[in-house]
Parts: sequence; C-alpha cells; structure tokens
Amino acid sequence: MASVPSLAASVNQRVADALSAALPEAGAADPLLRRSDRADFQANGMLALAKKLKGNPRELAGKVVDGIDAADLIKEIEVSGPGFLNITIADEAIVRTLAARAADGDRLGVPLKENPGVTVVDYAQPNVAKEMHVGHLRSAVIGDALRAMLDFTGEKTIGRHHIGDWGTQFGMLIQYLIENPGELAPAADVDGEQAMSNLNRVYKASRAVFDSDEGFKERARKRVVALQSGDKETLDLWQRFVDESKVYFYSVFEKLDMEIRDEEIVGESAYNDMMAETARLLEESGVAERSEGALVVFFDEIRGKDDQPVPLIVQKADGGFGYAASDLSAIRNRVFDLDATTLLYVVDVRQSLHFRMVFETARRAGWLGDDVKAHNMGYGTVLGADGKPFKTRAGETVRLEDLLDEAAERATAVVREKAEKVGLSEAEIVENGRYVGIGAVKYADLSTSPARDYKFDLDQMVSLNGDTSVYLQYAYARIQSIKRRAGDTRPAAHPELPLHPAERALGLHLDQFGEVLAEAAASYEPHRLAAYLYQLASHLTAFYEKCQVVSADNPVEVVENRLFLVDLTGRTLHKGMALLGIRTPERL
Ligand code: ARG
Repeated sequence: MASVPSLAASVNQRVADALSAALPEAGAADPLLRRSDRADFQANGMLALAKKLKGNPRELAGKVVDGIDAADLIKEIEVSGPGFLNITIADEAIVRTLAARAADGDRLGVPLKENPGVTVVDYAQPNVAKEMHVGHLRSAVIGDALRAMLDFTGEKTIGRHHIGDWGTQFGMLIQYLIENPGELAPAADVDGEQAMSNLNRVYKASRAVFDSDEGFKERARKRVVALQSGDKETLDLWQRFVDESKVYFYSVFEKLDMEIRDEEIVGESAYNDMMAETARLLEESGVAERSEGALVVFFDEIRGKDDQPVPLIVQKADGGFGYAASDLSAIRNRVFDLDATTLLYVVDVRQSLHFRMVFETARRAGWLGDDVKAHNMGYGTVLGADGKPFKTRAGETVRLEDLLDEAAERATAVVREKAEKVGLSEAEIVENGRYVGIGAVKYADLSTSPARDYKFDLDQMVSLNGDTSVYLQYAYARIQSIKRRAGDTRPAAHPELPLHPAERALGLHLDQFGEVLAEAAASYEPHRLAAYLYQLASHLTAFYEKCQVVSADNPVEVVENRLFLVDLTGRTLHKGMALLGIRTPERL
C-alpha cells in the first residue's frame, strides 16, 4: 500500500504547513511547533522571525491568526505572551488524520524520506575463538535496532559484522593444532555451547605452551607469516576456528532473537588482500610516513602522555598489518564497492580515538569525501549493581548465554503468575517468557542514551511497573484482549464524535509517531523511540481509566471509535517494538 504523502501524514505537519501558508514572508522559517500544556500546540517561531524581519512578534503572530485558513484543522488559535501562538486542534482533524494513517497498512502512514542513502552499519562484531561479553551484546542490540529504524525510513542499510578473525593470536592457535592434531576435530553436530568450550580449551592450552615454551613461541610467530601469506594448510586450520566460532555466535544471536546473515559476516580477514595496497597508497600520498620502521599517521590534535603525538599504526615494523589497516581497507571497500553514503560504527566508546584517527586518515587519503559521513555510535559500559563494570562475583566477565538464560527464567516466572487468568498453555508460557526476558534485556539497553553507561539490573528489567519492555508488552496484550472482547464490533473511525481529553491526548501522541521515528533514526537515538513508546503506553493507561471501551452503555459509534484508537495504538506499539527488536506476544 502506498504511503500517505508527507504533507498530510500528521496533524503536526498540517499545522506547520497552515502556519507557513498564512505568513508568506516567513518563507521556509521553522514555525517551531511544540506540543504544549496550555493548548495542543504552541508555535514559538514568530520570535526568531520577527528578529530576522525586524518586525514585532505579536504583530506577526496576529497576522497569522487573521490569515490562517484551516477551519477543519484548527479549532482555536490565539496570540499569547511576547508572540507565541497557542493552537487547539479540532477533534475531527485528529481522528481524520489518524484514520488516513491507519489505512496505510504496515507503514502506518510514516513517509519514506526523500533522499535515502546507503548506510553500512558495522555492528555485532564478536571475536573468533573468544567468548562474547556484554559489550558485544550492546553493539548487537543497538546496531540491530538502528538498522531496522533506518530501513523503515527508506534508507538502504548493509550490515557488516567486522569480527575479529585475524591477527597474531591465530599463529599460536593454529600452531597448537598442528602439534596436537586431535583437538578441535571437525564435528557436524556441535552446539554453540560445545563449540565455545572446545575453543576455550584450545585457547587455554595453546596459551600455556606459548607462555612457557620459547621454541613454540617462535614457531607460532612463523605461523602468523604463513597465515598472512595464504599458506593452504594454515588457512584450512584457521577456517576451522572461524567455523567453530560461528556455530557459537549463531547460537548466541539466536538466543538474542536476532537475525544475522552469513554474507554480512565480513571480518578483519576479508580485507587481507587489500592491506598492502592500503599501506602503499597511504605512503605514496604522504598521508602515512615511516617511523622506526613502522608505517604511521600523525595528527597534530591528538596527543597522549607528555604531549607526545599518538600515531595510528598502519603497518608494524615487522611488516604485519593490524586492526587499523583492516578498518582503513574496509572503508575503501564500503565507499567504493558498496557505494556507502554513511558509515556507521556501533562500537564501544573506548574505541572512539581509534575511529577518529581512522576517519581522519581516510579523509586525508581522499577515501572519505564530503559526501560520505562516518560516525562512531560509541556506546557506554554495562555496569553491575555496584556501579562497576559488570562482572561475576568471582570477577570474571559474565557469559552472555547465562545472562540471557537468566533473563528468560525470571521473565517466565513473571509471565507464569498471570498465565492462569489469561489461559496460557505451558508452551505459551515458555515462549512468552523468552520474549519477555530477551525484550527486557534489549529494552533496558535501548531505553538509555547509547553513550551512557547503564546498570544491568534484572529485577528492575522484568518489573511490570515503570519504563520496562514488560510494561509495554502488557499494554499491547491488553489491547488484543479488548479487541477480542469486542467480538464483532470492529474498530472504525468516527471523526464526527467529540473526543474526551484522554482520547485527544492519546490521539495527538499517536500522531507524532512518524516524526519521532524519523528524528530518532536520523540522530541514531533508539532511546527516543523507546521513550515515545513508553509515553504511548502511559497515555493508553490514562485513557482506560477515563474511558470505557467495550461497554453496553456506549453508543456503537463510540465503541468503534475507541476501538479504532486502541487498535492504532496496538499497531504502533507493535511496529515500534519490532523496530527495537522486541516481540509483542498477543496474549500475556
Ligand atoms: N571485534 C572488535 C571488538 O571486539 C570490534 C570491531 C568493531 N568494528 C570495527 N570495524 N573495528 O572489540
């Protein structure tokens, strides 16, 4: 189904258009329309405009009031204070605009943006042969949500899981396998947990030999060279580590209820063939220089201890390429082969210096032009209840699977408490428990600004009260139960009916969905979408308190109109939560 054209997509937009039309001299000036407590909206734009036109803001505002032609949209408009406009919307306009959106199927009337680009999203990038930790969880959850939000606005996104599958540690691992051929034998039916425990075992064993045996250390070093130069036997063994790790990664992503596509797992190794050329181009153009044998890039503005410049190392003195070389090569690939207009990196804020240097280097080399945006969506640290980085009591990093299992377990207990009343089967309890648990973890992550640290507190996350996903999921399930209770009475908009204040508040909040989404996507702030959804559920709760939906006392049009509001709220909740990667069970 086609989207409603953006001009009519929201009350907000229609009012802004009417204001502009009433005052031609305003040109493209923003009327600065905001929701307000005094009326439905307040427009503050006259003040800035008066300054620009050297006029009087109250006079300009008066002109708008006299000139505005929007009787079917605006019930009341008045000048207040130094030149604000207070605007009250006609009930009819609220319902009509929402009805047009409701008729727009899955897009809910949200317009596609006019000039979509191609955003390569670098997210969910665990490391081969290593356990995933909460940092990887954040990258996956935030990246997945941002990607869905961007896609929904019409942007084309391409995922890149820049997994750590290259580097000196593989020399040690592979050499160990060569000397202990029985280990990590290919097995078809390992599950994620076995895969990780196999990898852990090999990792620990090889580390022990590496640390104690100088001869082995030397052989491991040579093995790195063999790997980087493409020696067949070495590569085959390396592939075994990658494959075993992927089994593990997929099992964790599956637990996270997240779809990861194999063709988008393009790790550091994928750029191996480009690295030498990347280095050569940087050296030839003078962007990088030789310093003590290494190839490095210096930055005036970036200094470390003793005010010494901190360089980006493109190639080490021993000829090896590292993390920076793979990221620089990846930029060339993403810009020139994938035609990216935006490069988005969802990576721990602790790597922000690395990305600053990489982006600046790529700009100097001409690989990132003015037409390509590069952004590190750096996220903060997950903290334990004690406010320190999240660890187990023994001080070890928490295994992601354990954490997700525990979330599901707690959530299942919460679901079970109400299950009898709702009539859920055991299978439904388990399934819902999983969706509530995973949702709780994702929502807690997504509802705080990504840049901030947050506390991992499962009790709070699965609480039914407050700003949690469970609260939103219950709001959604309640809507479905009301619709079921309505039987044959179907949702239908009746614009001619006057609205209760609680209905207007809900309706006007619903109206903002498209704008909030567009802004949250453009600024990479999923927490703004989360906050919107939470407010939506709160408006719904307030509405229930004041307005009976299914009731014999209500005329059928009132029931239908209320069902219409409730239904659109449900669809908006469902869509918004889906964009955040969270399921909304029908019965809870
Ligand atoms: N694998 C890295 C880590 O675990 C994150 C990779 C981030 N992406 C990138 N293009 N450097 O820290």
